[in-house]
Amino acid sequence: MQNFMQDIRKDFPALSQQINEKSLIYFDNAATTHKPKQVIDALTTYYEKFNANPHRGAHYLSIKSTEIYEDARETVRKFIHAKSSKEIIFTKNATESLNILAFSYAMNLVEEGDEIVVSILEHHSNLLPWQQVAKLKGATLKFLYLNKDGGIKDTEIESKITKKTKLVSITHMSNALGNINPIEKITTYAHQYGAKVILDGAQSVPHMTIDVGKLGIDFMVFSGHKMLAPMGIGVLYGKEALLKEMKPFLFGGNMIEYVYEDYASFAELPFKLEAGTQNVEGALGLMTAINYINEIGMEKIQAIEADLTSYALEKLTNLDEVVLYGSKNSKDRGAVISFNIKDVHPHDTASILDSYGVAVRAGHHCAQPLMRYLEIPATTRASFSFYNTKEEIDFFVESLKKVRRWLGYGS
Ligand code: ALA
Repeated sequence: MQNFMQDIRKDFPALSQQINEKSLIYFDNAATTHKPKQVIDALTTYYEKFNANPHRGAHYLSIKSTEIYEDARETVRKFIHAKSSKEIIFTKNATESLNILAFSYAMNLVEEGDEIVVSILEHHSNLLPWQQVAKLKGATLKFLYLNKDGGIKDTEIESKITKKTKLVSITHMSNALGNINPIEKITTYAHQYGAKVILDGAQSVPHMTIDVGKLGIDFMVFSGHKMLAPMGIGVLYGKEALLKEMKPFLFGGNMIEYVYEDYASFAELPFKLEAGTQNVEGALGLMTAINYINEIGMEKIQAIEADLTSYALEKLTNLDEVVLYGSKNSKDRGAVISFNIKDVHPHDTASILDSYGVAVRAGHHCAQPLMRYLEIPATTRASFSFYNTKEEIDFFVESLKKVRRWLGYGS
């Protein structure tokens, strides 16, 4: 294991930096992960050898660029076990994918008096588009609330999803608390009423095996940058029949079939939903990242991250000054731990940790309604990746123990 970790960490140049004259401990992986040199090298090679506009040229480089882009699509398809590569639309990120679904799908589905269901855990990306749709269409936005542990009870699902529900859009794993939601139960329940289910997989796709068919969802969104790939590449997955119904979101080059002065017909899937020159290097980066993950094995990644999370949870539970949020059972959560130190603002905790070289996120984590629901302004969040170690967690916990003293408290 030690050799494995040493080898893995060598792949991530950013991890061997000194920050504030301390070795960097990067625990902000839910915000974005670092990139292995395989991904960084792939981007350089792309620009040195292959750069050309895909789907538009008969010359070698354009054909090569098209091949890379379409290979990436097929790699994503296999990774999430989708049926067809027509079901994989490349976007900028999960946020853009959700906006496409809101404005090209939901606006044509939802009518006055209908209901859209989300959970109180949602990232603003999976809330604001639905607020807009609800407002524009005269629909109601309903929330699934939490039990003490941050979980969603069956009774909450059964009472909130009704025959009025047209759409359920829910996070798989909370970016703020780490809790994993009961998606299969929600999907089965929503489908009884003919409602469609959108899964925000931004935090889950990087950390667990995803089979869109087994989950039974209709759509899923995620971002590449949270799973070792570059920023600026994301995915919208949708069942082919549903994507086919959708109107294009952006209009322009490459998404057309015939264009006349006053009329245009559109290309087949997936191109209908990908207007303009696409992010080929981003797609290549995502493919390289997925290949890297596959080489280690998602089961191994999941086991390492679960071990790190339960180790950290145990250590933090033993600190009297730490208040933990979300499930205390590591089985119900991913590698995200949200906490506060008594009487200390999370920004102070994060700044003091930064002086020890430890990077965490502090704030509302783009989930203000959740913070309001929990009656706290903000939390400090440590989020792990398989490249983190228990030694880093030990150092983080030792640094945390010093936070109150730094601020003048006795202990
Ligand atoms: N969604 C990212 C996070 O949770 C930015 O930090």
